[in-house]
This record gives sequence, structure tokens and C-alpha cells, in this order.
Amino acid sequence: MTTVGIVGWRGMVGSVLLERMRAENDFQHFEPVLFSTSQAGTPGPELNGKTEPLRDANDLKALGEMDMIVSCQGGDYTKEVHGALRKAGYKGLWIDAASSLRMEENAVIILDPVNRKVIDRALESGVRDFIGGNCTVSLMLMGIHSLFDNGWVEWISASTYQAASGAGAKNMRELVAQMGAIASVPAARSASSAILDLDREVASRMRNPEFPTSEFGAPLAGSLIPWIDRGVDAGQTREEWKGHVETNKILGLPREVPVDGVCVRIGAMRSHSQALTIKLTRDVPLAEIESAISGSNPWVDFVPNDKAETLRRLSPAACSGTLTVPVGRVRKMKLGPEYLSLFTVGDQLLWGAAEPLRRMVLIALGKL
Ligand code: HSE
Repeated sequence: MTTVGIVGWRGMVGSVLLERMRAENDFQHFEPVLFSTSQAGTPGPELNGKTEPLRDANDLKALGEMDMIVSCQGGDYTKEVHGALRKAGYKGLWIDAASSLRMEENAVIILDPVNRKVIDRALESGVRDFIGGNCTVSLMLMGIHSLFDNGWVEWISASTYQAASGAGAKNMRELVAQMGAIASVPAARSASSAILDLDREVASRMRNPEFPTSEFGAPLAGSLIPWIDRGVDAGQTREEWKGHVETNKILGLPREVPVDGVCVRIGAMRSHSQALTIKLTRDVPLAEIESAISGSNPWVDFVPNDKAETLRRLSPAACSGTLTVPVGRVRKMKLGPEYLSLFTVGDQLLWGAAEPLRRMVLIALGKL
């Protein structure tokens, strides 16, 4: 049976990956082998009805015995191990959640509902590195790839509202700790306190040096942070830079489509949202656009542009923990008939991270 080595399965993305593999009964198709960077030799969790000792994730020989390796361990691990393993002659597939190899020429960014043809061609031509995309980019494309498929997109400007999980597990905890610190100000205990007292106490608590900000570097609860990742050229952040390069690489379009915007961290737990301004290549009727988005893949939930449905379906609270990608607020803008505005949301740990990796294993095995 095909062996699939899994590294980084204890982390946030890795845990979601194993959860999804269990839920979909994927282990009937391959033998999972769990690796650890720190606890090799100790018993792993029960998988497929068996408990096996963890293998050493730094042992190139043990890794080399796997038909495929799935890594959710992070970019530093990938940088240390991937090159050395390939140099040692490893010919199996390397499927990775980290960004380090994404833009390498011989790597494909995987998002099969969107670029299955690119993936199939790559497999046929012997490509062996398959890398999950940036969560924001993957979620945007899950929502609107039909517009690209129809050749309707001239450019995109995105304003993102990204959840704490994208920054890591410790950041999610810090967000909740910040919420708790805010909720515990004295004026919050009474519904009859003067509203300006409540506001002053909250602002003062958020600016207090004791307010927990060691992970984010600033208050996120009750506020936002308009900077994600490090700065790159021309005033962009790296998260903003990824929007253009990864979108174009995933789609493999004949003409480059400019994508830019502002990436902002907000106080959601694990679902990223984004408002998109799309310059269309022509004045496509709204009904055609709506129908293309609705029918684009089984996970898109087209939300009519009305208040009740928007509140019910188009938010992190509504879709976190699910594979549903709601797309709504779709309308032509006052800027002109070629300008489209819409809003989309998606769980950044599922379609944004774990799900494309899980599906890639099945695609490589011919099971999807
Ligand atoms: N870079 C993303 C974020 C998460 O910070 O939200 C991973 O794609």
C-alpha cells in the first residue's frame, strides 16, 4: 500500500488535515506514517486502528522510504529538509502547506477545484513538488474562479479582513485573551453604566502596557492591524505581494492579471473575508455573473444581495469550520458598468490550508 509520511500533524493546519482525513475515511487508500521533529520513538495517535511509534522527521532515510510526504511543519523545516532529501535522490511527491517552495519553477500551487488541469499536467510531466497556496488567495479563487474562467477579469483590488488563525495558534489565544481583558473592565459589568465611561475604560485597557499583545504587537480585539507579514518593495506587504504572484501562478493564465490591495488583520478566529473590486474586461450582465459564480464549484454558496441573507450566511461566524465559501454583496459599482463589487469569506484552515493538501494526496493516488 502507498505510504504517506505526515510531518507537522500536531500543529494547527496538521490537526485539521488529520481530522479531515479521518472524516473522509482517506486512510482506506494509503498507509499514513506519522513523523515528529521532537518525539520520534514515542507512540503516535491511533490511525487506521493502529498505533505506531513516531518516526524521526529529520531522518532523511526514513523520509526517503515514503511514497509521498505531506508537510505542515512550516517553512524552516521545508528549507532544511526538502533540498537535502531531493539531493539524496528522493523521487516521491512532496506536498507542503508552507510558502517556501511555492514560487519555485518546478513547484505547482495546488487548488484543484480551480486548477485541476494544471495539477494533472504537472503530474504527467513528472513534477513532484505540490504546494498549498496562500490562504487568502486560495479562498478568493474558490469564490470567483468562474470569472477568470470566462475571461472577464481585467484586474482585482482586494481589501482583506484576515482572521487571527492565519498568524498562528498563539495568536488565536492572544485574541481571546484580549477579548477577555476588554470584557472585564468595570463599566462592562453593568448595562446601566454611562456609555462614554465604558468607551474610556475599554480604550484605556487596550492601551495599557499589561494588555496582552506579545504575539500581534498591537491590540486586535476592538481594533485591527493593517499590516500582515513583512514589508516588501514599493510599500506592499508580503501578504499583498502574494495576491498577484500566486493568483497568476495558480491559474497559469496566458495574460497576467494584476491583483493588489490592502491586507488587514481583524478579530475573527479562523475565517478570512475579503471585499473585491473587480474591473471586468467588458460590461457583463449581472445575471450572467451571478449564475457563473453560483455554479462554479460545489462549495460556493451564492448569497443574494439582501440584508437578511447576508447576515445569516456571509460572515466568519457563519462559515468557520465548514468548507462552504459564501460569495455575496455582488453588484455593479457606481464607478461604471465594468466595475464589480463583491464580498467573500472562507475558513482559512480548510480551503485555505489543509483541504487542498488532503485532496492532492487522493489525486496523486487516482482516487479523486
Ligand atoms: N498569511 C496568511 C495570514 C495565512 O497571515 O493570514 C497563511 O496563508
